[in-house]
Amino acid sequence: MSENVSSLLYIVSGVLFIMALRGLSHPTTSRQGNMYGMVGMGLAILTTLVGHPPSGVGAWILVLLGLGIGGGAGAVIAKRVPMTAMPQLVAAFHSLVGLAAVAVAAGALYAPQAFGIIENGHFHKQSLFEMGLGVAIGAITFTGSVIAFAKLDGRMSGKPILLPQRHLINALLAAGLVLLLALFIGTESKGLFWLIVILSLVLGGLIIIPIGGADMPVVVSMLNSYSGWAAAGIGFTLGNLALIITGALVGSSGAILSYIMCHAMNRSFISVILGGFGGDAAAAGSGQVETRSVKQGSADDAAYIMKNAERVIIVPGYGMAVAQAQHSLREMADMLKKEGVDVKYAIHPVAGRMPGHMNVLLAEANVPYDEVFELEDINGEFPQADVAFVIGANDVTNPAAKTDKTSPIYGMPILDVEKAKTVLFIKRGMGSGYAGVENEVFFRDNTMMLFGDAKKVVDSILKAV
Ligand code: TAP
Repeated sequence: MSENVSSLLYIVSGVLFIMALRGLSHPTTSRQGNMYGMVGMGLAILTTLVGHPPSGVGAWILVLLGLGIGGGAGAVIAKRVPMTAMPQLVAAFHSLVGLAAVAVAAGALYAPQAFGIIENGHFHKQSLFEMGLGVAIGAITFTGSVIAFAKLDGRMSGKPILLPQRHLINALLAAGLVLLLALFIGTESKGLFWLIVILSLVLGGLIIIPIGGADMPVVVSMLNSYSGWAAAGIGFTLGNLALIITGALVGSSGAILSYIMCHAMNRSFISVILGGFGGDAAAAGSGQVETRSVKQGSADDAAYIMKNAERVIIVPGYGMAVAQAQHSLREMADMLKKEGVDVKYAIHPVAGRMPGHMNVLLAEANVPYDEVFELEDINGEFPQADVAFVIGANDVTNPAAKTDKTSPIYGMPILDVEKAKTVLFIKRGMGSGYAGVENEVFFRDNTMMLFGDAKKVVDSILKAV
């Protein structure tokens, strides 16, 4: 296959990836988007194998083994992983992208002839730059993602670990990295290459360790962006157009998603990149003991209140995902609609544990899209609502975000559920949400707590309605 044909096919797969991203932007087209992505990736792999076939049987066996083991493991993991564990899975996969970037750069350093990046015994300067930068981003992505995985998976405390002088240390490490990179390009020293790797591995860990749980979604998406740039770096080293396009797409879409999430949580993007923000307050906010009493209700009470309501706004959160209550919830909403109640769903941009988490679950339960509203479109309707039905959500309804400057979630836009006539709160106990802070709404006069597993409570309400 000529270079021109393979470049053309890589561009076609790049277009398919763009169509995949476009499709994934809405629940109705997301399956189609996934399909475009798979076809694009299949085409890119085939083009590479046909355009640059592995030399010899041994190389073919290695490539096929890699495809079989990687593809097989990916398929099994994707089938088995529960929706609630998706963020840590994404973090774990990002770490592999980072590691791959390190491996490819090392491969290029030790076998430069295979990559065509050496002439008269000297590396091309541009290739040294790509290798050095790619390996640094890859190694930072690797340890950063491993720590994000450990925090999200509960293998490491979600609380921020605040190292003294962390910003200064990070800045010094980053400056050290730039210096090492310049020296590496000048000297072509393999020792300096591995020093870059070690320094980047340390920096990746140090950037993520101080970040608290509530800010983890931004971190995961930021690491997504890093892994994209690392892949694009590998693409330049390998001279592979498809990898450059894919890496740039992942890098820029991850960065845009991080920006959108920062905006939704009222965080500054720069402070996320630097790491360590929000941590101090998050650490201070947890561990309070609450002694005040709350008003508790039964499923019958909730059914009575909602049947007699005109407008009900449902606010789903992480607890709905854990309990898998979305199907029962839709049935409950259908029943209420039959009773003449106007039912809407309010989705906070960071409800649950990943972007679009609630939208995916509601779509799975066939909730009509025109009943689902984003925060900015529905927040003004709470004062007119008779009932705010909060199911497994907590942080995203916490008014401390508006009033308490010391709270780790201060400044995050929240759903104004407390403005509804009655707030029904389904959760198992008085536990706090992801950010580890108390929610004042539990103690308000217009709030009724419905304690229990979200699915069981909704099933009981369903019977009572
Ligand atoms: P959370 O604040 O985490 O609150 C969820 C609540 O659900 C908990 O208070 C818990 O209380 C309750 N719960 C858990 N299991 C339940 C079950 N089986 N049945 C009933 N209730 C159950 O959730 P949220 O309001 O959706 O907010 C999301 C938080 O996660 C934000 O702080 C956000 O920053 C963070 N975060 C978001 C993402 C993305 S991108 N969405 C990713 C990572 C982190 P009990 O224990 O008392 O039941």
